[in-house]
Amino acid sequence: MNFKPRYIFIILSLFFLIYSFSIYIKPLTITEDSRFNKEIASEGRLVWQSYNCQSCHQLYSLGGYLGPDLTNIISNPNKGEKIVRAMVKSGTKQMPAFMLSDSEMNSLIEFLKSTDASGKADHREFNVNEFCMIEKK
Ligand code: HEC
Repeated sequence: MNFKPRYIFIILSLFFLIYSFSIYIKPLTITEDSRFNKEIASEGRLVWQSYNCQSCHQLYSLGGYLGPDLTNIISNPNKGEKIVRAMVKSGTKQMPAFMLSDSEMNSLIEFLKSTDASGKADHREFNVNEFCMIEKK
């Protein structure tokens, strides 16, 4: 069987079109993450920003370093949603108490659920060696 260049061109063009089409169709097939509500979580992000939690806390290890990283606090077996509610309401010596309304508090929790669902940010899984390089424990 002899392949004419024309056929090769047509086959490659077809592959190109199918592949391009499949890439454009992909975002349409991504389903919503069931672990959090997107709208409420984005309201919660505004709560997080307006009360300036980031000035003392980190998300994904970035932010202020007075308080701990809160990215995965919701799935932390020793912490979770209850600790967040209690801490924000009562505060500690170093953290002021925040008088959030119920809906602000709920959306803040939803926001922390969304950061939790987005990945892990546990810097404690790493050591800094004598050359100041980060290596896995
Ligand atoms: C002035 C700095 C400061 C601000 C602003 C602040 N925090 Fe804190 N937060 C801290 C410190 C410091 C701790 C650790 C307190 C301790 O262990 O006694 C803490 C602890 C916490 C904890 C418990 C974490 C753990 O692992 O036990 C939560 C949850 C928390 N903060 C949520 C928030 C939220 C939500 C906001 C914004 C509404 C906020 N904080 C604003 C300083 C702050």
